[in-house]
Amino acid sequence: MDVENANCKVKVSQCADMEVLPIEKPLKIDVEITGLEKLIEELHRVFSHDHVNVQDVQKLMAGYKSDPKDWSKFAKFDRFRYTRNLVDAGNGAFNIMILCWGPGHASAIHDHADSHCFMKLLSGSLDEVRYEWPENVQPEVMKVLNNNKPRRKCCSESQDLPDSVSELKINDSCHIDSCQNKGDRCQEEGDRCQTKSGSCQERREDHGSDDDEGYDVEDMKVRGRSRMEINDVCYINDALGLHRVENPSHVDGAVSLHLYCPPFDSCRVFDARTGKPTQVKVTFWSMYGKKIKRVIEANDAADSQ
Ligand code: SIN
Repeated sequence: MDVENANCKVKVSQCADMEVLPIEKPLKIDVEITGLEKLIEELHRVFSHDHVNVQDVQKLMAGYKSDPKDWSKFAKFDRFRYTRNLVDAGNGAFNIMILCWGPGHASAIHDHADSHCFMKLLSGSLDEVRYEWPENVQPEVMKVLNNNKPRRKCCSESQDLPDSVSELKINDSCHIDSCQNKGDRCQEEGDRCQTKSGSCQERREDHGSDDDEGYDVEDMKVRGRSRMEINDVCYINDALGLHRVENPSHVDGAVSLHLYCPPFDSCRVFDARTGKPTQVKVTFWSMYGKKIKRVIEANDAADSQ
């Protein structure tokens, strides 16, 4: 089974006999989907089956032509960082959300918690940068692939990863954005968070933490970079690597539609300079068009004084 036919109803590592190959050919759009509501209805229909092909989801998403009338009520921007706005919880099988990227906003390098990630650009443009996994961290799916004999073909150079997975610590975080990690001083300097998240990660190192032991300063390896234009769809899972997304514009916002299946509420972000992973929770800025009331924690309040 290749990625196109992988069953995205289940975690990537549970896709039996998966041969991990990147999808390269341009998508052929079978049907035009009229409106976001119709797209969501179609997704519910497809996800009501036990087996959902990755390619079928991609085609559905590609078949919808972005129209701000459909999604503007979900598109809530923040001045300091990109926002995650839940549109539909997909009966627990998937979730679909709209992400709003202000000028220069970016996510941190992250994995996808063994889930499938589909992304479609609705407005503006976005750069997707893909990375190799750091040498001393391996995703669940690679453990499965490495255990299968004979060895399966794999898109990654890092097939011979060691068994040990680093110990991870849970931080309070709302986005996949290193700027938001509790204790990260970038949070106090909102404007800095509008720059690429790499600068925040460098700043975190400047704070000189002791728990970077075992992580040499060696920039994470970039596998590729692609510019997404309106209506483009891309797909990634942990077997295909890690990524970060950034809005290259210094003046315009960008809006993207993301579908994750199965849904996840935490993932790992990686320090771009050392590859060190940190487990972070992911939450929403708004749900179904309504902004979430944020509780400011005592520590955050103390930090900002
Ligand atoms: C997210 O879901 O917050 C991550 C968006 C991305 O960079 O893919």
